[in-house]
Amino acid sequence: MWKGRFKHEASDLLKSYGQSVTTDWRLYRADIRGSIAHARALAGAGILTSAEFGEIEAGLNAIGSDIASGEFAFSEDLEDVHMNIEAELTRRIGAAGAKLHTARSRNDQVALDFRLHLLGACGEIAAGLRGIQRALVGLAGRHPSAVMPGYTHLQRAQPVLFAHHLLAYVEMFARDAGRIEDCAKRMDSMPLGSGAIAGSTLVLDREAVAAGLGFSRVTANSMDAVADRDFACELLAALAILGMHVSRLSEDIILWASAEFGFIELSDRHTTGSSLMPQKKNPDIAELARGKTGRLYGNLIALLTTMKGLPLTYNRDMQEDKEGVFDSVDTVLSTLAIFSEMLAAASFREDRALAAASDPLLLATDLADRLVAGGVPFRQAHEIIGRLVARAHELGTPLDRLDPGEFLAASPLLTPAVVAANFDIASAMAARRATGAPSPENVAREIARWTARLE
Ligand code: ARG
Repeated sequence: MWKGRFKHEASDLLKSYGQSVTTDWRLYRADIRGSIAHARALAGAGILTSAEFGEIEAGLNAIGSDIASGEFAFSEDLEDVHMNIEAELTRRIGAAGAKLHTARSRNDQVALDFRLHLLGACGEIAAGLRGIQRALVGLAGRHPSAVMPGYTHLQRAQPVLFAHHLLAYVEMFARDAGRIEDCAKRMDSMPLGSGAIAGSTLVLDREAVAAGLGFSRVTANSMDAVADRDFACELLAALAILGMHVSRLSEDIILWASAEFGFIELSDRHTTGSSLMPQKKNPDIAELARGKTGRLYGNLIALLTTMKGLPLTYNRDMQEDKEGVFDSVDTVLSTLAIFSEMLAAASFREDRALAAASDPLLLATDLADRLVAGGVPFRQAHEIIGRLVARAHELGTPLDRLDPGEFLAASPLLTPAVVAANFDIASAMAARRATGAPSPENVAREIARWTARLE
């Protein structure tokens, strides 16, 4: 592609060190779409005849089908996907093919292809997120009023509904979808026409190219356009945060699947056994997802580090941008798919969770709230109930079984009727009516809202 300037062939080591086609071949669809749009603009500017444009379009489409059906042999000697496709086009159609790269550089070409490819990936990730949200809402809907302990510091805190816990993840994944959408908005800017760095003396209709490829606008600065990889960094950052969410869900699932918690039953299809211990049933999917999150973070840090020292504009370092991004997209898509399947087949052990949530200590705060309702300042109420908790602990009695005299001595407001009402878990849940709190009524409304929204 640059033989005019050179007397000697590149060393074999340089060819294999510098090639990117083993990774960037995946851009072939974007490359072909981009090249057809570029050829159309060349024809519009009178640089190609309409017959030449027709040959280029048909030739590129034929190459695209060959690649899709696995009949195309990429050559590492031709460095990257862009040169492989262009060389093959010229081999097939001759002179017209050699005109395709007019007013274009691989710098603006790769910027275009990468954006086009990742815009498609953003759509797939958004669909994957809706899938896992549907699975979570479905599981919540199968156990709409199951009570479980809620935890802070992994210590039992207050009773919640299992469905409320799952809907917390639905909210997290909705924010992930928002980040992906937001990142796609900035990615949606068409860089072709920026050339190597300074555009071209052959002026093409960039706006028409953008419109033809479905972009909303064109990039405004040719140097920024070829130097920019913010869109890839942003996507990696959004995927790292998404991974953090899946990893926290994994941790919950791993705990719940243990004998100690015993809250969730995963299907045989989504667990593995042990080659040594016959009794084992392991939550490997959740463990793998938690593990893969490390790589999602690593891919983000790798690209940020690659970019941080680069002077404007394109530097060859930037060829390292694709592997990690492809890996993060693949990892997230496969994780979302398998989680959707696993959650759809999982069931919640309501009896076990209710038994754990029936620890009366989880309603100690409610008892303090009853003192507040009777006019006691909260700090004082907290201390009064704290002393009763300590007393129950000392006597080895569950809090609700303390002698009625102990309650009355602590406060005249704590009559046997008030104490009995306090420890009724159904009314304790129904009382949590504030917006965002887990009363069964609120949670049922949220399940309905999400079900409708995800349809
Ligand atoms: N394979 C290169 C990449 O992915 C394409 C751009 C090469 N540009 C250049 N001036 N060598 O970054």
